[in-house]
Amino acid sequence: MKREEALEKIKALQSELEEHNYNYYVLAQPVISDFDFDMKLKELEKLEKEFGINDPNSPTHRVGSDISSDFEQVEHKYMMLSLSNAYSEDEIRDFDTRVKKIIGTECEYVCELKYDGSSISLTYENGELTRAVTRGDGVKGDDVTANVRTIRSIPLKLRGNDYPENFEIRGEILMPFEVFNNLNAELEAKGEPLLANPRNTAAGTLKMKNSSIVASRKLDAYLYYILGENFSIDGHYQTLEKAREWGFKISDDSQLCKNLDEVFEFIHNWDTERFNLPVATDGVVIKVNSKKLQENLGFTAKSPRWAIAYKFKAESASTILNSVSYQVGRTGAVTPVANLEPVAIAGTIVKRASLHNADIINNLDLHVGDTVFVEKGGEIIPKITGVDATQRHPMFERVEFIKNCPECGTELIRNEGEAAHYCPNEDGCPPQIKGKMEHFVSRKAMDIDGIGQETIDLFYNQNLAKNISELYELTKEQLESQERMAEKSAQRILDGLEASKQVPFERVLFALGIRFVGETVAKTLVKKLHTIENIQNQTVEQLTEIDEVGSRIAESVVDWFSKAEHLELLEKLKKQGLQFAISEDKLAGQTDKLAGLNIVISGTFEKHSRDQLKEMIEKNGGKNVGSISKKTSYLLAGDNIGPSKLEKVTKLGIPMISEDDFLKMLE
Ligand code: IVH
Repeated sequence: MKREEALEKIKALQSELEEHNYNYYVLAQPVISDFDFDMKLKELEKLEKEFGINDPNSPTHRVGSDISSDFEQVEHKYMMLSLSNAYSEDEIRDFDTRVKKIIGTECEYVCELKYDGSSISLTYENGELTRAVTRGDGVKGDDVTANVRTIRSIPLKLRGNDYPENFEIRGEILMPFEVFNNLNAELEAKGEPLLANPRNTAAGTLKMKNSSIVASRKLDAYLYYILGENFSIDGHYQTLEKAREWGFKISDDSQLCKNLDEVFEFIHNWDTERFNLPVATDGVVIKVNSKKLQENLGFTAKSPRWAIAYKFKAESASTILNSVSYQVGRTGAVTPVANLEPVAIAGTIVKRASLHNADIINNLDLHVGDTVFVEKGGEIIPKITGVDATQRHPMFERVEFIKNCPECGTELIRNEGEAAHYCPNEDGCPPQIKGKMEHFVSRKAMDIDGIGQETIDLFYNQNLAKNISELYELTKEQLESQERMAEKSAQRILDGLEASKQVPFERVLFALGIRFVGETVAKTLVKKLHTIENIQNQTVEQLTEIDEVGSRIAESVVDWFSKAEHLELLEKLKKQGLQFAISEDKLAGQTDKLAGLNIVISGTFEKHSRDQLKEMIEKNGGKNVGSISKKTSYLLAGDNIGPSKLEKVTKLGIPMISEDDFLKMLE
């Protein structure tokens, strides 16, 4: 294909894919299948790569990248103010009186839902997203553009052609309840502490350094405020309707209200209706519709005089604490759970509430039989917010955190500075053993087809396999004699186990479940030390000499290999044929040519993609780092590097090298 032809095809595919994105994520009305979408995306990816096109607003960039990015602090063009709050209808009446006193006439209000997420300001220039900044302190915020580009409901290029050349649009980044719940279910399965609520999780996700993880978190966004000069429409509501045409996700639930009665009707309706929404809301924002009148009203130091936020009351109820039980997670963390007399809150029956840890129990001074206040906010798991001490009978017993593991009886420990109690019996406590086995077979570890949480439960409870090496001793007869296990499933499991013997060493190391040895650490250890024996023979001091291995990791590794049962397990797994050394292929490509060098990659390149360059750096013993600092050895610079990066390297006197210079270094 000729270049010109290709560029046209790229452009057409980009806009077609953005259109499908819009249909799917903004309108929720997809018109093509996911498969067709993926095929087109792949085609675009291929063309862009082949013809060296690096358009940050191409749909291919929505998947993010694992190059860690630093957040530059940037100043807001218009300050990001907050809203004053109202907690009662009287306060809304006062607001209405104040407004009318200043403007001297009746006015229309717009009622909008108050989305409970993380606020964001987006800049569009000539119809393209150029910047996304968090609220920060209102004056300055973090530039999180790379992460925001992964949010599918945010348009990268606008539709139509009647948008202003330059404007800002503000709104809320949200994590839908469904995504949040799935994330927590995954954490629970791993025995890790749960996330508190979608709001904090959305905010935390937005600040992640790896935008490909952000992409996987499926954030959503609603926009509700446009700023800029040269807007021809006076109504705030009508302006947002227009913005909807440009491709923005604008809530369908906003309403123009002619008077206060209509405002109150809106509030009453959403007070309960909000629980049917896919995202968290915590109130209603009431805004004067006319922008001329808004200008008349102006701002106080903190907030606009033309708007107010009515906050919903958190749904709460009082009920009786029947007992406290304790759950042991996959990592041995013990979580106390309150068993409650069932009570209806926000449309659901609540029977249990999380108590999180011993400190929370002590702070509440909980006694069994207490009348407690239970609240259901943005969180899915309700929490106990207080105790009605006047209802306490002198005979009620104070809740004392258990001393021994409810699963295996071992005495619990609590590490200094940590809130959670742990059961230290990691190799003998059933939920912990099962957790280790589940981790072992999981996709990112050994990826064993056909075995999941339920199968592990079955194997464990039926005494078929009580640790990971026993999985490899399972026979077809044993499996088939299980009720509900068809021949096909049995064969699938056996095939999966057999195939896992080819899984590369770094994933086997990760699969062993050594505390603090995640995927990246496992890769680093294997790259440096090559075999399990070498890793086993390291001292804490030697391990900490390896980049990215701190003392916490080193101690955990040495501790793991010091246990006889772990060595026994390794011997068995070795006999069973698992990989315990780096593969010849990987070893062959490795050199030390870039040892000790920290290299930052920036810009676009002719011969290799950034991911390829990253791989080459790592293969040759160097380190690819995300941001420029005094420790940076080189900036590997392509075309179009950002001005701030240029300024930084010049200031710090860091040498820049081209793609060709870099390739020469590897010769
Ligand atoms: S308007 C000048 N509209 O609430 C103020 N804000 O406490 C412009 N929020 O920082 C904000 N939903 O993060 C507006 N429909 C809505 C909103 C909303 C949520 C958030 C926003 C703001 C905070 C104010």
